[in-house]
Amino acid sequence: MGKDVIIACDFSSKDAVMAFLDQFKDEKPFVKIGMELYYAEGPAIVREIKARGHKIFLDLKLHDIPNTVKKSMAVLSALDVDMCNLHAAGTAEMMKAAIEGLTRPDGTRPLLIAVTQLTSTSQERMESDLLIKEPLDKVVLHYATVAKNSGLDGVVCSPLEAGIVHENCGKEFLTVTPGVRFADGDVGDQVRITTPEKAKEIGSDYIVVGRPITAADDPVAAYRRCVKEFVG
Ligand code: C5P
Repeated sequence: MGKDVIIACDFSSKDAVMAFLDQFKDEKPFVKIGMELYYAEGPAIVREIKARGHKIFLDLKLHDIPNTVKKSMAVLSALDVDMCNLHAAGTAEMMKAAIEGLTRPDGTRPLLIAVTQLTSTSQERMESDLLIKEPLDKVVLHYATVAKNSGLDGVVCSPLEAGIVHENCGKEFLTVTPGVRFADGDVGDQVRITTPEKAKEIGSDYIVVGRPITAADDPVAAYRRCVKEFVG
C-alpha cells in the first residue's frame, strides 16, 4: 500500500486551482477535490485535473439511500477517480451498495473510504444531537469495523487514531488522515494535529494536507518537505 501525501485543493474556482497546480513542474501530486471546487466547477474539473496526470481523491462524502448512492458511485467510477468516500452513518447496506455501484465491469474500482464521525463532532454534540451515548473513540472504531466488514478500503480519521484503527481493522485497512501541520507551522482551525513525521510513525497511509501547502510562500517546497517527512 503506497504511502502518499494528498494535497487538499480547497479552491472555489478552476482558475485558482490551475494556478496552484501550474507551480508543480517536476511532480504530479495526488490531489483532493472537495465539495467547494466540485460544486463550483462540476465534473469537468475532475476530468481536467486527471488529464494533467494527477491522482484524485474526490471527497464528496455521499450519504443517502442505498440505491441513490449506488447509482451516484457508478457515475464517479466512470469519472475515473482514484479514491472517493461516503459517510459510514449511511449503514452497511448503503456501503455495500456503494461498492456495487463503484465496481467497473472489469472488476476494478476506485478506493472507497468511510468518514466515521466528523472531527468537528464533539462527544457532547454527538450525545445531544445524535443521541449516541457511547464514547466517541468507541463509535469511530465501530463505524470503521462496519465499513471494513462492508468491503470498504479504509477510513478518514485523525492521525492520532490511525494506530488504533490498524490494530482493530488490520494493517491493510487504510487510514487517510487530515489534521497535519509542520512542527514550526500555523495550526489554523485544526485541533488534534500531528506532523507528517509523527503521522508516519503512528501508521497513517495517506496524509491529507491543505493550507500548510496551499497557503505556503513556496507550495512546491512545502509539498516536498511533506513528502520527505512522511514518505522518507
Ligand atoms: O488546510 P487543512 O490542512 O486543514 O485541510 C485539511 C483538509 O482535510 C480539508 O479539505 C478538510 O475539509 C479535510 N478534512 C479535515 N478533517 C476531517 C475530514 C476532512 O480536515 N475530519
